[in-house]
Amino acid sequence: MSAKKIPLYDLKLSRKALDEAEKTLKSGWLTTGSKVEAFEKAVARYTGVRHAAAVNSGTSGLVITLKLLGISSRKEVITTPFSFVATTEVILQCGARPVFADINPQTFNIDPDEVLRKVSPRTACILPVDIAGYPADYKSLSEISKRYKIPLVADACHSFGARYHKKSIPQVADAAVFSFHATKNLTCGEGGMVVSRHADFIRAVKVMSRHGMSAGAYQRQKANRWEYDVVNLGWKGNLSDVHASIGLGELESFDRNQTARKKIAHRYLKNLTSLADYLELPPVDEKIESAWHLFIIRLNLARLKCDRNRFINLMAQNGVACGVHYKPIYEFSFYKKMGLTSQSFPNTAFAGRRVVTLPLYPGLSLKDVDYVCEAVASIINKNAR
Ligand SMILES: Cc1ncc(COP(=O)(O)O)c(C=O)c1O
Repeated sequence: MSAKKIPLYDLKLSRKALDEAEKTLKSGWLTTGSKVEAFEKAVARYTGVRHAAAVNSGTSGLVITLKLLGISSRKEVITTPFSFVATTEVILQCGARPVFADINPQTFNIDPDEVLRKVSPRTACILPVDIAGYPADYKSLSEISKRYKIPLVADACHSFGARYHKKSIPQVADAAVFSFHATKNLTCGEGGMVVSRHADFIRAVKVMSRHGMSAGAYQRQKANRWEYDVVNLGWKGNLSDVHASIGLGELESFDRNQTARKKIAHRYLKNLTSLADYLELPPVDEKIESAWHLFIIRLNLARLKCDRNRFINLMAQNGVACGVHYKPIYEFSFYKKMGLTSQSFPNTAFAGRRVVTLPLYPGLSLKDVDYVCEAVASIINKNAR
C-alpha cells in the first residue's frame, strides 16, 4: 500500500465562497432571495445568455424543463445510455419513454446519426449530455432539431464553462441545464441552473420550481403582500440563498480554476501519449473547449493482461482513487426492465467496460499528476501483452 493518497475529487471552497455563505447565514434570509437573483444574473452573464433560473439540483432542472416542454406519457425523448442515471430517470419521472441512441466512440457523446435513426412521430425532445465537459455535436443535433421541430435540451451538468465553436452550451441549444453538485467544476454544494434564450420559458421554470406559485416568499415580502395564486402543477425545485452564496463566491475564482483544470488535463495528455497502444485519451479539437469536469481514459483491454477492475485496484494500491463514468444505464438492476442489451449499443457497451476516470481538480499539483501517470505506466508495463 502506498503512503500517497490522491482522491478522485477534492473540493476546497474559496475564501470568498465561505465568507459569502457566512454572511447569508447571519442575514436572517436563507431561502430563495436576493442571492439567488444575483447568482442567476451572474450565470446568465457568464454564459452570454439573457435568462437563467436557479434550481436545487441539475435533476430538478431537467425534470422541470421536460415537464414544461410537455414531455409525458406516449412521448419519447432521445438520449444517451452513457450518462449518469439522472438523465434517463427524469424522462421516466415525466412518464415518457427514453429512447437511447448509441455514442460516438471517441467523444462518448450521443452520435447524431444514431439520433436520426431513432426519430419518430412521438419524439418530443433530444437530450444530449456533454460527457466529462466535452460538448456534444451541437451542429448536427440542431440540424435534426430544426428539421423535425423537436426541442434540443442540453444536459450540461458536466459542461459549465465549455465552449462549442466559441459559444457556450445554452447558446447552441434551446435550453441547457447545469449541475452545481459538490463534484462539479462550479459548485454550490447542491444546486443547478436552467439557462435559455427564451424569457418566457425561464419565467415558467421559476414558477414551477416554487410549486406553481405566482409569487414566492421573497417576492411577497418585497411587495408587502401575502397573496399568491397557484397557476400550474408545480415542483419543489427552488435554490436557497445559502447555496447561491457559495456559487456566487466560487464563480469569482471559476476562470482561475478552469485554467488549472486545463493545465492538469494537458499534462495528462502529454504524459500518457506514449501509452497510446494501451489506452485511449480524451479528444482534443481546437474548435471545442472542454470544461474538463472529468478526465476519462479508455483501456485497450486486448493489449492488457488485467481487466478494468484489477487496473482500478492496482491504482488504489498506489494511493490513487479512480472512478468509472459510466456503466451503461441499461445494465443497472432497475433499468434492466427496459429489456435493452449491449448488442443494440456497441459503442456504449465497449466504452462501458473500458473507461476509467483519473483524478482532476484545481488543487491537484502537476507533481501529483506525474505521480498518477507513473502509476498508470507502471501498471501497464507489468500487464502489457
Ligand atoms: C450527466 C448528469 N446529468 C444530471 C446530473 C444531475 O445533477 P444533480 O446531481 O445536480 O441533480 C448529473 C449529476 O451528477 C450528471 O452527471
